Amino acid sequence: MPRHLLSIADLSGEEILKILYKASDLKEELKFEPCLNYLLGKSCALIFEKPSLRTRVTFELAINQLGANAIYLTQADIGLGKREAISDIARNLSRWVNAIIARTYAHKTLLELAQYSTIPVINALSDLEHPCQALADFLTIYEKRGRLAGIKLAWVGDGNNVCHSLMLGAGLLGLTMKIATPKGYEPNKEILTKAQEYAARSNAKIIITNDPKDAVTDSEFIYTDTWISMGQEQEAETRRRIFRPFQVNRELLAYAPRTHFIMHCLPAHRGEEITDEVLDGPNSIVLEQAENRLHVQRAILYLILTGKL
Ligand code: CP
Ligand code: NVA
Repeated sequence: MPRHLLSIADLSGEEILKILYKASDLKEELKFEPCLNYLLGKSCALIFEKPSLRTRVTFELAINQLGANAIYLTQADIGLGKREAISDIARNLSRWVNAIIARTYAHKTLLELAQYSTIPVINALSDLEHPCQALADFLTIYEKRGRLAGIKLAWVGDGNNVCHSLMLGAGLLGLTMKIATPKGYEPNKEILTKAQEYAARSNAKIIITNDPKDAVTDSEFIYTDTWISMGQEQEAETRRRIFRPFQVNRELLAYAPRTHFIMHCLPAHRGEEITDEVLDGPNSIVLEQAENRLHVQRAILYLILTGKL
C-alpha cells in the first residue's frame, strides 16, 4: 500500500514533526545548494481541477529542486472522470510516474485516485482538507515560537478545508485552537470529533464558538481564509452577508493579545475576510506561510518518495 497523504490525519504527531524538521533542514540547505537531486530520475504528475498559484508553483519548484520532473495536467487535458474513469487514470499514471499530486473539488475523487494508484497520492487541496497548507502553517508557527504544543491559535471565518486540516493537526500536536464561525458554517462534525479525540490524547483543546471576539482573546496566532471557497461561487452573495461580522480588522484585533501574528493561506479577498491594513500590517506572516509551502512540500516529497515516511 503506497504512502498516501490525503488528510493530515494520515500522519501521526511524530510524523508531522519529522516533516517539519526535514523541511527546516532542506530550507537551510537550499540557501547554499538550490538543486539537491535527491529524487533524480523520478517524476510526479500534478492533477489540478481548480486554479492555483502557491500550490502549483511550490510543488513544481519542489519537484524540480529535488531533481525530479513535474507533469502538470488540468481537467481540460485529462477529463478526470469525464474523458476517462478516475480509476483508469490512476492505473495509467501508476505505470509511468512516482507520485500523483492532486487538487480536486470532491474529496472522494482523491480517495478514488488513491484506491486505484500503486503510487502515493498527495492532497493538494480538496473540499474537505488542505494538509500541505496546514503543515506549512505549523512550520511557520514553530519558527516564530520554537514549539507547537500549548500554542493558542484562533480561526475566524468559515469552518472549511483549511480549518479542518489545522484542527486535526492541532489535535495531533497539542495546540489550543478556537474556531469562530457563523452559525451553520461550523467545521464538519466527523472531523471535529476526530480532532477532539486526538486532542484528548495530546492535551490539545479544540473549541467551537460563534463569537469571533471570544476566539481571538488570548490567541497569539489569528488565522482567516476566504468566505467563498473555490466551488462555492454561487453562494457568494449570501456568504458575504453572513460572514461580514467575522472580518479580521483593527476593531476585532483590539480583543487579541498585544503581540499576535496574522495568518492567511491566501488568496486573500481584501476588504472581505481581512482588511488591507491587517493583511499588510507588521503582524502579518502570510508570506512566510507561502514560502514555507515550498520547504514543507520538498520535505513531504523527499520523505515519501525515498520511503522514509
Ligand atoms: N494557499 C493555496 O493553496 O494557494 P493556491 O490556491 O494559490 O494554491
Ligand atoms: N478555502 C480555500 C482555500 C484556498 C487555498 C478554497 O478552498 O478555495
